[in-house]
Amino acid sequence: MYLTAPRIDETPVARPASRPDPAFRAEVRRGLAQPQKAIPARWFYDMRGSQLFEAITQVPEYYPTRTETALLQAHCPAVAERIGTEATVVEFGSGSSIKTRILLKTLPRATYVPIDICGEFLDEACTALRDLFPAMPIVPVEANFMEPVHLPLPRESADRPMLGFFPGSTIGNLTPDAAVDLLRSMRGTLGEGAYLLIGIDRVKAPERLVSAYDDAGGVTALFNLNLLQRINRELGGSIPVGEFRHVARWNPVASRIEMHLEARRAVSFEVDGQSFRMERGETIHTENCHKYRPGEMRVLLAAAGWHELEHWTDAQGDFSLILAKTDGARQEP
Ligand code: AVI
Repeated sequence: MYLTAPRIDETPVARPASRPDPAFRAEVRRGLAQPQKAIPARWFYDMRGSQLFEAITQVPEYYPTRTETALLQAHCPAVAERIGTEATVVEFGSGSSIKTRILLKTLPRATYVPIDICGEFLDEACTALRDLFPAMPIVPVEANFMEPVHLPLPRESADRPMLGFFPGSTIGNLTPDAAVDLLRSMRGTLGEGAYLLIGIDRVKAPERLVSAYDDAGGVTALFNLNLLQRINRELGGSIPVGEFRHVARWNPVASRIEMHLEARRAVSFEVDGQSFRMERGETIHTENCHKYRPGEMRVLLAAAGWHELEHWTDAQGDFSLILAKTDGARQEP
């Protein structure tokens, strides 16, 4: 575990970071000014947030990571058999996880192309993978994969199969409409004839879902509360972090877990020179984690022009690993 002692009640820092990220500043200011306060989940992942997320993946209640890892171990050989071991693997995200290694081990002649908006994460992930797979061409691309990305691939790659990789049920952190947009843009990035290997979490008993996002050890709570500490640190905030509590609730209408930060009492604070007030019980909405049924996953993929070739799950039916292909035929280079 990467955890250090919890410091959620530390004194707020009223000094902004020397150069706060302008997008972070704008989205926090905008999000806190809304009637239902909300901050996009992507801002969870500063250094400590990334470490805490890593720790979440190890807690007993958070089944997605270990379930998907076992599915990859069991079924990557079938993926390799279907598409051949010379594929170009394009990972949407920096590929630092054990899951990337499992996939690449079964595709020893692949070219690996991780796409990430953060150059630092990409460099770290590529350095580790180059040690493990010294003969594998690795072509990092620093870009926002929410939009189609031009891949700088060598000519030989043109007639090799393209395989997109999007594990972790990260697709669930988007609303269904945004998920379809992303799947469509992945199709644009990979081209017609491409394959996609994607992990998606399933709907299940709300108690299990809630405990996966509100573990007894309090790791997810620290992860959520760290967002407030980040705001205090980087945007000169004075949020009394100890006066907030982590809440995870199942929204059956939207079929999602929602994470919120709830004020335990009425609080007033400043962020970036702007004053805010929250009543007791008022929340800041910080994340959505949509869960799907197998048929809904097929519809989501189909809406973006992908059809399902294989759909694997575990014995309990907790998680899906899907191999899909674009509807269109491959364009000749
Ligand atoms: C990154 N993402 C897929 C995680 C999830 O399960 O939605 C983020 C997470 N938030 C709290 N626990 C895990």
